[in-house]
Amino acid sequence: RSASSVGALQSLANRSLISGAFDQCPALPRTSVKTSPKKSPCRVGVRRKSQEASIDGPYGLKRYSTSEATVAATVGNGQIREKTLTMETLNPQVKAVEYAVRGPIVIKAGEIERYLQEGGKKPFTEVIKANIGDAHAMGQQPITFLRQVVALCTFPELLDSPSFPKDAKWRARRILQSCGGQSIEGMFWSYSASKGVDCIRQDIAAYIEQRDQGVPANWENIFLTTGASDGIVSILRLLVSGQAHARTGVMIPIPQYPLYSAAIAEMDAVQVNYYLDEDNCWALDVHELHRAYQTAKEHCQPRVLCIINPGNPTGQVQSKKCIKDVLHFAYEENLFVMADEVYQDNVYAPDCQFHSFKKVLYEMGPEYFNSVELASFHSSSKGYTGECGFRGGFMEIVNLDPEVKSQLVKMLSVRLCPPVTGQAAMDVIVNPPQPDEPSHGQFYKEKGLVLGALADKAKLTEHILNAVPGIKCNPVQGAMYAFPRIFIPPRAVEEAQALGMQPDMMYCLRLLEETGICVVPGSGFGQREGSYHFRMTILPSAEKLKVLLEKVHDFHIKFLNEYSALDEAQRSVS
Ligand SMILES: Cc1ncc(COP(=O)(O)O)c(C=O)c1O
Repeated sequence: RSASSVGALQSLANRSLISGAFDQCPALPRTSVKTSPKKSPCRVGVRRKSQEASIDGPYGLKRYSTSEATVAATVGNGQIREKTLTMETLNPQVKAVEYAVRGPIVIKAGEIERYLQEGGKKPFTEVIKANIGDAHAMGQQPITFLRQVVALCTFPELLDSPSFPKDAKWRARRILQSCGGQSIEGMFWSYSASKGVDCIRQDIAAYIEQRDQGVPANWENIFLTTGASDGIVSILRLLVSGQAHARTGVMIPIPQYPLYSAAIAEMDAVQVNYYLDEDNCWALDVHELHRAYQTAKEHCQPRVLCIINPGNPTGQVQSKKCIKDVLHFAYEENLFVMADEVYQDNVYAPDCQFHSFKKVLYEMGPEYFNSVELASFHSSSKGYTGECGFRGGFMEIVNLDPEVKSQLVKMLSVRLCPPVTGQAAMDVIVNPPQPDEPSHGQFYKEKGLVLGALADKAKLTEHILNAVPGIKCNPVQGAMYAFPRIFIPPRAVEEAQALGMQPDMMYCLRLLEETGICVVPGSGFGQREGSYHFRMTILPSAEKLKVLLEKVHDFHIKFLNEYSALDEAQRSVS
């Protein structure tokens, strides 16, 4: 491979360090970043005089160039005034956070897109982004009824419009009344109760009871959140405490959704990895939970068990037996269970079914149902609605100590309230049109089209990837992602290491540079030592997805041939 392309990869790795994404390339020698000597922490970069080059701005005020690109500025008396907030003084917990989904690959993809728009030439004409689970960004159509209800809530004058169906108006009126007491005018714009709008919490409880075939749900245990992320972080904040051996250990699956590792790093908790079983469709094996727990107990206090079902990035749907085993384990070891169930509507494999942790806990009997502390999370961002920007979500928490519950409410109150538009979106998800309502037909048609297309794309992805020598992909049973294992020849691994990069990072960068396909290296989610993966979403349209998969196919064969490793690959992951 040409020296220039190696150089380009190296420079991207360096840039990712400078832009703060340190651990995308953890092996890269830190000396390549010009960090400062201890005594004078801030003498880095190009120092620009902050007060020169002033020009008149649009309001007649002088405009000064700022010194954002530097860590120090020269002030009036010619002295150097150093910044207060530098990489030296930055909260180290912030520095410890990694987030692959929007990491250097995505930065590079943006640059290539701009280059193409400006008429630049590449061996491809567009970048296909399969890096992030944002359905609307990938062209998925919104559910009309949801948008109608939210529009009516935000602009109640539309309640008089004949263009909106009666059932959408009825829901909007109810939400508005619940927000504003007697008056429906304007109150939707104010802060809601910090726990969320009461009638929406009640609708959520009714939805959960129906979903769980009658298992009781108390609306007082339901809290609206700013997306599921906010709920997850809020609960972790309650749980993380202690010093040294008593520090809270948080058990998370590997591979994981990087919100978990990021929150754990930020809170300085202890990340306790338990590995999902790739050879068994990424199932959760309770023996592995025991192993991880026992090992962790030597250096921290494991208090939390996080589960993602259906899985991100791994796409598996857990069986009821597996959930029972996990809950039994949590019961025995006194662990607080956090069940991330944001993909509960995204189940495609005909032999799989979503079972909520709460329902299974109930079925295990009162001893379990009345004692295991469980928080489960849902979101408007996933499912068939894909409304990521509304930031809708909720959590249901059972068996929480009443005093702790008050503390939780206090903490939620400090943050005022989740967006009311997101709450309205969430209400539509839990309270969809009924068979005797005018929007029922269209709603279910749209829902069916979205979920049907995702199921087709899940199959297509598995099928095409498994036809590539050196790639092995488990069935995408649910969620929105494939996490195929890729064979990277030993010589390529050595080359990546020499560049200070994770081998799958180098692979994904080359895939992007040579084909325009943007996926995320498996190292960003965690994987067993010596195995390599990437995560791709199944969200692009069917046509684009086919193009993407064919490009991956051709690229992978070319990559293997470059290292004369085609035969070896066929043997290694078959
Ligand atoms: C497993 C999982 N949990 C939580 C979230 C966060 O979702 P939200 O947009 O509701 O914050 C995501 C988003 O992709 C996810 O995949």
